[in-house]
Formats: sequence, structure tokens, C-alpha cells
Amino acid sequence: MSEQSNARLIAPRITVLVTSVDKQGNVNAAPYSWIMPISFKPAMLCVAIQKRNTRTLKNIKATKEFVVNIVEKKFAKQAVNCAKCFEWNEDKLARENLAKENSEKVSVPRVAEASIALECKLVEIIEPKKADHYLVTAEIVNSVKKKEIDKLDVIMHYSGNLFCIPGEKLILEE
Ligand SMILES: Cc1cc2nc3c(=O)[nH]c(=O)nc-3n(C[C@H](O)[C@H](O)[C@H](O)COP(=O)(O)O)c2cc1C
Repeated sequence: MSEQSNARLIAPRITVLVTSVDKQGNVNAAPYSWIMPISFKPAMLCVAIQKRNTRTLKNIKATKEFVVNIVEKKFAKQAVNCAKCFEWNEDKLARENLAKENSEKVSVPRVAEASIALECKLVEIIEPKKADHYLVTAEIVNSVKKKEIDKLDVIMHYSGNLFCIPGEKLILEE
């Protein structure tokens, strides 16, 4: 993907750590920021995942489940490090000293450090014409909220290693 792509001008975007498991139960985690909600009822989201052989996509295809963990400043470095894969089956959460917690409605664990985790069941994998990413759509079957969303130090992603933390709240009357 080109660093110069015009698609990168749609920024900053929230950073999440997607956890998934393979059929043998090996847990994987990788950071994503091309993510958005697509439905209130049922609650649904989609993640744009590159058309290459990623563990995340392979796991989601195999088990039809994943968890979206909202990344916060306190574990941002470790979460972003999860983009690096040194061995196919390695436990990146353990490598980065991130703890797992059992989810309620899916067999994929969530990240214990995350204040917000969305348990997802795959709906479909769409292949948009011409695009170099798949659109993975999923229903949010359960959410865990340990803190209010506006109390989190979320990490917003521009591209590459450039991020920011929102610093000011605005309430705009309609
Ligand atoms: C902050 C950040 C955001 C990322 N966002 C995306 C994304 O939205 N879509 C994508 O396909 N890859 C994204 N990546 C790259 C994946 O994390 C990378 O391909 C990773 O190696 C996939 O790991 P896996 O093979 O374990 O699934 C992002 C990387 C970083 C560091």
C-alpha cells in the first residue's frame, strides 16, 4: 500500500486491536484503524482488511468470530507492536505482556487492558470491486464497557507510526 495513497487523508481514525482465534484455539491480535459502525439495530461494524494472507482474516474465516478492543494510551505501544509477526502461531498478546480475559458471547478472548471490547460474529466478507481490502462485516453480539467512552485516552491513527490523542471535547448544538 502506498504511503502517498489519497485514502490516507481520511484521518485520524480510532485504533483498535482485533483479537481472533484459529480452529486450534491459538489467539492472535493485530491493530486496525480502517473500522466503522454500519448499523444500530442490529449493532454492526465493518473492518477493512488487506487482501493478503493475514492471520486475522484467516482466523475470522475459520471461526466466524472476533473481538474489537479499543486501544488506549496505556497500552498503545504494545497494541501497535502486535502488527509485527515473527512466527505464524506466536501469541502476540503474551509477547507484548497484554492479558486475555474470557469473552461472554464469543470464544475469542478480549484484551484485559481494554476498557471497551466489542464481541463480534461475522456476517459477511465483501470484496469491493477494484479495492485492495476486504470489508469484513460483523454483528456486535456483546459489548464490555469498563469506562465511559469519553473518559478513555483513545489513540487516533493517521498512518504509519503517526497517532494523536483527542484533547478537547465539543458539544455542538444542532
Ligand atoms: C495502527 C495500525 C493500524 C492498522 N490498520 C489496518 C487496517 O485497518 N487494515 C489492515 O488491513 N491492516 C491494518 N494494519 C496492518 C495490520 O495490523 C498488519 O497487516 C498485521 O501484520 C496483521 O496481522 P495478522 O497477520 O496477525 O492478522 C494496521 C497497522 C497498524 C500499526
